[in-house]
Amino acid sequence: MKCIRSEIIGWGHYLPAKVLTNDDLSKMVDTNDEWISTRTGIKVRHIAEGETTADLSVKASQMALKRAGLDIKDIDLIVTGTLTPDNTTPSVSAKISGMMGARLGIPTFDVAAACSGFAYALTVADNMIRLGQVKTALVIGAETLSNVVDWTDRNTCVLFGDGAGAVVLRAKEGDGTSQDTGILSTKLYSDGSQYNSLYVSGGVATTKTAGFVVMNGKEVFKFAVGALSEASEWVMQDAGVSVEDVDWLLPHQANIRIIEGVGHKLGMPEEKVIVTVDHHGNTSAASIPLALSESMESGKIKKGDLVVISAMGAGFTWGGILVRI
Ligand code: UT7
Repeated sequence: MKCIRSEIIGWGHYLPAKVLTNDDLSKMVDTNDEWISTRTGIKVRHIAEGETTADLSVKASQMALKRAGLDIKDIDLIVTGTLTPDNTTPSVSAKISGMMGARLGIPTFDVAAACSGFAYALTVADNMIRLGQVKTALVIGAETLSNVVDWTDRNTCVLFGDGAGAVVLRAKEGDGTSQDTGILSTKLYSDGSQYNSLYVSGGVATTKTAGFVVMNGKEVFKFAVGALSEASEWVMQDAGVSVEDVDWLLPHQANIRIIEGVGHKLGMPEEKVIVTVDHHGNTSAASIPLALSESMESGKIKKGDLVVISAMGAGFTWGGILVRI
């Protein structure tokens, strides 16, 4: 049956220039390259200096618009997943729309779902497109996590990085089958009973400060493998496709052992699993659009490929998206 699909017609990413290596970190806290590499798979991460989340977002969005062959005035909606907005309010999306000169009057808002922020943002944008409320959407995942990292805490400071990724979605008529291009299925979840397993310790209504990342690493790790696998399985089943039909698994880039665990659980061959955590670290809501854009830009992910995206983060929140590029 004919239906509206949200097709990814543009992709972009941006990483701030400063690179922080494991050796650099070993001079700041009691750690070393061997521990970080074997426990997390991370080698380097990028750190924003003098650039805000909106600045990174604008750079990633400019690239996405260029790849789409569109102007910012063609955009009907801007939605950003982030936990590190420039101000408590307004949204970073509103700021981006002003900085880029978007059409006046278009809806702009942020989605607060931590590392699942981009998956949530993409789902909301997809739903608005399928309802016919907007035709063309700019969806961003962007973070300057370096602002909420305690640089004296070796348990967390080695894990995170800054960056941004963006996609342009456009409404396209589909046949309602899994052969359509565009987003084929989405599924979001949360479990608030795990609120204290991973959080940033500040807040407007509590400390009146931004705070620092606090994490029960083992708890998050255990949960992440199951949640990312569950969300991936759900969207594949919903669209009536099997693991064999899928070209790429793109899980949230937090830790190579989590990524490998999900690949293994789903029965996905290693060479079909996208890994960028080694050179980005965990960039929270930016991790998926960064990895997607990088893989599309390099030609790894091609037109027509079927990609399973899965995300998991604080809340806990998690979710899956099945998309044919
Ligand atoms: O985006 C979603 C959010 N985050 C995640 O998905 C992260 C999920 N969790 C993880 O990735 C892992 O749990 C970590 C990488 C954070 C930790 O790995 P682990 O294998 O669970 O290590 P651990 O917490 O069991 O720590 C083992 C040891 C401890 O020492 P003791 O108590 O055994 O003597 C830590 O103190 O490693 C120590 N340690 C470190 N040593 C060197 C912790 N951090 C470091 C460090 N360098 N940076």
